[in-house]
Amino acid sequence: MAANAWFETVAEAQRRARRHLPKSVYSALLAGSERGRTYHDNTAAFAELGFAPHVADLPAKRDLATTVMGQQISLPVLISPTGVQAVHPDGEVAMARAAAARGTIMGLSNFAGKPVEEVVAANPQTFFQMYWMGTRETMAGHMERARDAGVKGLIVTLDWTFSHGRDWGSPWIPDRLDLKALARFAPQGLTRPRWLLGFARTGRLPDLTVPNVAEPGRPAPTFFGAYGEWMQTPPPSWEDVRWMREQWDGPFMLKGVSRLDDARRAVDAGATAISVSNHGGNNLDGTPATIRLLPGIARVVGDQAEVLLDGGVRRGGDVVKALALGARAVMIGRASLWGLAANGQAGVENVLDILRNGIDSALLGLGRASIHDLEPGDVLVPPGFTREIGVTGEIGSPRDA
Ligand SMILES: Cc1cc2nc3c(=O)[nH]c(=O)nc-3n(C[C@H](O)[C@H](O)[C@H](O)COP(=O)(O)O)c2cc1C
Repeated sequence: MAANAWFETVAEAQRRARRHLPKSVYSALLAGSERGRTYHDNTAAFAELGFAPHVADLPAKRDLATTVMGQQISLPVLISPTGVQAVHPDGEVAMARAAAARGTIMGLSNFAGKPVEEVVAANPQTFFQMYWMGTRETMAGHMERARDAGVKGLIVTLDWTFSHGRDWGSPWIPDRLDLKALARFAPQGLTRPRWLLGFARTGRLPDLTVPNVAEPGRPAPTFFGAYGEWMQTPPPSWEDVRWMREQWDGPFMLKGVSRLDDARRAVDAGATAISVSNHGGNNLDGTPATIRLLPGIARVVGDQAEVLLDGGVRRGGDVVKALALGARAVMIGRASLWGLAANGQAGVENVLDILRNGIDSALLGLGRASIHDLEPGDVLVPPGFTREIGVTGEIGSPRDA
């Protein structure tokens, strides 16, 4: 990698990912759905928020450390689970190493391209993400494998509706990178020789299989094979969520909450944490930006569960805004993927350093010695900014009609 591999913003990591990756791989990372309204609102909403800085009595040192689901972390940013990280030969292992090197948690997707055992070896602070897919028996098996591997928490992601149309077009991604697929892929690969070279050095082609959902003794299915099974699984009820919670005796996060009543039900189902999330705008387009929904959800949940947010986080200032408005920590999806694509493990470390420095700098300007001192008054919230969707009510009250 060139001497100038370091980048100063996440926007620059994105530009490098775009230059480095074949077009279809880059657009698979960008994702989004339908008009891309939610995808854009996730970032635009952060930009609508302002700060209220001080000029004197500023703290000489700032404390960024916190805990999430019992794990001590050095900054309030986790790696959000994202599927098949074949943008780099080391994929999830490189991502996990970077998170470990910077003192934070690795969220490992159900559809990861690397075995959970290898990822936990790279970062013992790994949370394993599950989709509702297959039978209860197969899901119990996958959770058992994750537990045996030593993961420290479970993330259950429920916000997915299987719509995939995008006005800007969806990329062609082969089921397997065999010779036939490579021939079709070649024109794009040849325009990005450095990306191909990265894989050529390892003697392997990008692997599009998902080993953590393999049946015992069977080969890992392909991503699209697993996706097909997921699509055919009847969606879960709250009773199913409670069942899953009972199978897991450790910390349990429910990811994908947008509504107040769903937040309440997640707490009632025994969630240790929830993530206010719309899957990075990849799901139901028109869902408001997560940062607009956060204050209402944080108020309804109170201290009955930890509240995280993911969606649109690109700067340390975004993290500080989310914490001031009620999040305990945030998770990053695309920012980490662009870092990985731009410069492997070092690129993800670079992204985490950008966020750490940005958080530190915002704390300094706001006159806050610790992330735990942040409060809503630190942020300028324009009128009409927040959204509250779903019926409010107290946690533990009967289910709304
Ligand atoms: C390419 C891509 C793949 C993703 N795969 C998963 C996944 O396998 N499991 C999951 O829970 N969320 C997945 N997500 C959603 C992220 O965990 C996270 O919610 C989202 O990316 C946050 O928004 P951001 O990208 O703006 O940070 C994916 C997101 C992207 C962009």
